[in-house]
Amino acid sequence: MPIYYLPIAHEADVFRHAWESHLPLMIKGPTGCGKTRFIQHMAERLGRQLITVSCNEDTSATDLLGRHLLVGGETRWVDGPVTRAVRQGAFLYLDEIAEARPDALVVIHSLSDHRREVFLDRTGEFLAAPPEFMLIVSYNPGYQRSMRELKPSTRQRFVALSFEYPTEDQEIEIVGWESGAERNVIKRIVQIAKKIRNLTELSLLESVSTRLLVSAAKLVARGVPPRLACCTAIAEPLTDDTDTLRALRQVIEISI
Ligand SMILES: Nc1ncnc2c1ncn2[C@@H]1O[C@H](COP(=O)(O)OP(=O)(O)O)[C@@H](O)[C@H]1O
Ligand SMILES: [Mg+2]
Repeated sequence: MPIYYLPIAHEADVFRHAWESHLPLMIKGPTGCGKTRFIQHMAERLGRQLITVSCNEDTSATDLLGRHLLVGGETRWVDGPVTRAVRQGAFLYLDEIAEARPDALVVIHSLSDHRREVFLDRTGEFLAAPPEFMLIVSYNPGYQRSMRELKPSTRQRFVALSFEYPTEDQEIEIVGWESGAERNVIKRIVQIAKKIRNLTELSLLESVSTRLLVSAAKLVARGVPPRLACCTAIAEPLTDDTDTLRALRQVIEISI
């Protein structure tokens, strides 16, 4: 079955045009709002293999490009994900790019401008990306824990799309498709999200994602009582702070 993705605006057209123009794409937005699902969908739709790297503070140039490994007493070069993607003309998706180490960001500089190539310093090889290759990165501007901001010299290599939470009707449709729960309950779950997202005084690191709503609805579809499902899937994952938890539980109790 094809990967389910509900279009939110013109993101699919922008993606395709960026790909055809050999432009790298940056997708900005909060966690759980559909970034990864969108890229999986586009890779499938355009018939390209997708290679994903989840970047973290240890992600280095070597992790991306490859390394010499000792295999049965011999050293052998093993391609990293970026090198593989370039060789195969795949879609390369670097998730949470701002987390990666500076030397890893330097690697993607030559890939994200007109050169579209990588230099493997360990083997002395220059690899040019084929036309089908595309670099996609995601970046979460609201992610406060990471003090890392992307430098203009990196950001300005990309065209960028901003993702937000879907509208109410879109979210009802997404949660319905993903969970199979009953429509009335889904509407209430989405209402809860709307209320929580409007409670700006809660000082949450990030508000409730579509992903959490899908989880709550999945629990309900399995027979978990709706309030318990929402506390488990929405309130608890959002915070450890007792006052905030209490406020979230209240919203849930008056809504479902
Ligand atoms: N537009 C959408 N179409 C289909 N599913 C979506 C959409 N937006 C969010 N989702 C649901 O939300 C979940 C989380 O989305 P994901 O792409 O993993 O978020 P992100 O990569 O932005 O953190 C998905 O697994 C899917 O169930
Ligand atoms: Mg993701």
